[in-house]
Amino acid sequence: MPTPSHPHAHTTLVPSPSPHQPRPRATPAPSSPSASAPPPPDPRVPFSPQSILKLLVSGSGGSRTGGLIPIPQYPLYSAAIAELSAVQLNYYLDEERCWALDVAELRRALAEGRQRCCPRVLCVINPGNPTGQVQSRQCIEDVIKFAFEEKLFLMADEVYQDNVYAEGSAFHSFKKVLFEMGPPYSEVVELASFHSISKGFMGECGFRSGYVEVVNMDPEVQQQLAKLVSVRLCPPVPGQIVLDAVVDPPQPGDPSYELFITGRMTILPPTEKLQVLLEKLSSFYAKFVKEYS
Ligand SMILES: Cc1ncc(COP(=O)(O)O)c(C=O)c1O
Repeated sequence: MPTPSHPHAHTTLVPSPSPHQPRPRATPAPSSPSASAPPPPDPRVPFSPQSILKLLVSGSGGSRTGGLIPIPQYPLYSAAIAELSAVQLNYYLDEERCWALDVAELRRALAEGRQRCCPRVLCVINPGNPTGQVQSRQCIEDVIKFAFEEKLFLMADEVYQDNVYAEGSAFHSFKKVLFEMGPPYSEVVELASFHSISKGFMGECGFRSGYVEVVNMDPEVQQQLAKLVSVRLCPPVPGQIVLDAVVDPPQPGDPSYELFITGRMTILPPTEKLQVLLEKLSSFYAKFVKEYS
């Protein structure tokens, strides 16, 4: 796992949807003039776990917000909780099972936390830093059900989503699993998913760019979030361009696709190479069929 870098603000406004849902490449048609309803707030705002936590911290004494965080963790979360004078609630990853996240341990930490504060947020780092564990799809579902039952806001740090190397491991985003689970979970569980350009195979730490995508957040709260992050500085244009390339990489048929795929294959491990090769083959096959049928 790469060495943790400084947890300072990333303030790029993301110009396209998250990689979990690739955007259609055509420009959307302008909405009809008769449509009077205001557009829904953009769910994508700059990378800022601190801003999300700020929205969730309130109360005093036994009603002060508590945040469940993994141990071991990347210290951004404990630092942000301390800065906001919230209550840090530790849940321990299971070293004997490759640092797996165990929902029974979450229940223990929650029950303990409820004796001294009001737990409102659950932070998950997947893939993990510094542990490197990758949560199974089943585990993610269990965590989502737990958050639903216990009315916890889920903060999913997914900045290492392109750094999965172990045989048989695959990254599943919380948003994808949440939507695949369907109602009531997909309509209720509040989720913030974080990504950064400083990891992955790009590893562009110096550009200081990233984003958070929120799901199921009350639109009025989302407006406040947009205000909160708008008062922070944004990275220079190159950082914003790199982020756009991360969330919307070249597609088959684009002028830079071949160069992109070649570069990617020289960096990523064989399993990924194989996948990319298959993608290439299937796009070649699709072109072939189109041309000769
Ligand atoms: C788990 C995790 N989340 C967030 C970050 C923040 O990433 P950055 O500030 O480099 O974009 C890091 C950095 O190492 C990290 O390890």
